[in-house]
Amino acid sequence: MIEVIKSADDLARQNWDVLVPTMGALHAGHESLIKLAKTRGDQVIVSIFVNPLQFENKEDLLNYPKTIDSDLKIVAGAGASAVFLPSESEIYSAGYKKIEAGGVGEIYEGKSRSGHFAGVLTVVNRLFDLVKPKYAIFGEKDFQQLFLIKQMAKKLAVPVEILSAPIVRDTNGVALSSRNSKLGDNGIKTASVIHRALSLGNVERARQVIKSEPDFKVDYLEMIDENTFDLAKEDTENKRLIIAGWINQVRLIDNMAMGSK
Ligand code: PAJ
Repeated sequence: MIEVIKSADDLARQNWDVLVPTMGALHAGHESLIKLAKTRGDQVIVSIFVNPLQFENKEDLLNYPKTIDSDLKIVAGAGASAVFLPSESEIYSAGYKKIEAGGVGEIYEGKSRSGHFAGVLTVVNRLFDLVKPKYAIFGEKDFQQLFLIKQMAKKLAVPVEILSAPIVRDTNGVALSSRNSKLGDNGIKTASVIHRALSLGNVERARQVIKSEPDFKVDYLEMIDENTFDLAKEDTENKRLIIAGWINQVRLIDNMAMGSK
C-alpha cells in the first residue's frame, strides 16, 4: 500500500528524491512522469492538490475532476513511495510567499488566464519548500508552466533540479488531459487536427491546416524560441510551435519541439 501523507510534519520525517506535483485526475501522462521519477531515485512522492490560487474561475475549480481512488492506484502502480495530500490550510498557512510570474507569465496562457501562473508558481514554490526534493518533474505538455517554474527555481536559487517529461498522446495524437473526457468522440476527432498541424513543423502551413477545421477555434499558434519565449527568428536555435484553442467550451493546449539546428 502507498503511504498517504497529509501534514508537513510527517513529510519532514523523510528525505525525498523526487517530487511529482499534480492536481489529481491522473492519467497515463502523469504516470509517465512518476515512472521517469523512479529512474532518478527511490523515494518518489506525488503531490495531489487542486490549487485554488491558479483558478481564476470558481466554477472550474469546483468542477475539477476528483478521482482519488483511481489516482492512488496509478501512483502505487507506477512505483511511487508516497502521496502528499495536503489541506488548503497546510499549503497556505500564515506567511506563505506569493510569487509573481513576470513578463512571460502575462502572454499566451497567461493572457487568457489572468493570475494563473502566479498561482502555479506560488504553490510549486511552497511544495518545494515543504518536500525539499532533489528533483522535481513536470510535463512538456504545459510548456509555458515548465519554462516559468525553471525560471523561478533559478531566480530564487531553490536547491532542486527541474526535469521535464515528453508529452503523452492518445492514438489520435491528442495530448492526454483530464479535459479530454469532456470532448466526446467527435471532439477527439476534431482535436486530432492539432497534432497534424504541429507535425508540419512550419507555422504558416500549420495555420492553414488548423483553419480547415472550423470546430477548432484557435487562440494562438506561434513559433517561439523555447529558451526565451520570444517569437522565433530565422536563426533561433531551439524553436517550438505552441498552440491553444477551444473545441466547444473546452480549452486545449499543445506544443512540439522543432529540433535544434
Ligand atoms: P496537472 O494538470 O495535474 O499536471 C501535472 C503534471 O502532469 C504537469 O507537469 C503536466 O505538464 C503533466 N502532464 C499533464 N498531461 C500530460 C501529458 N499528456 N503528457 C505529459 N505530461 C503531462 O500542471 C499542474 O497539474 C499544476 O499546474 C501543478 C504544476 C501541479 C501546480 O498546481
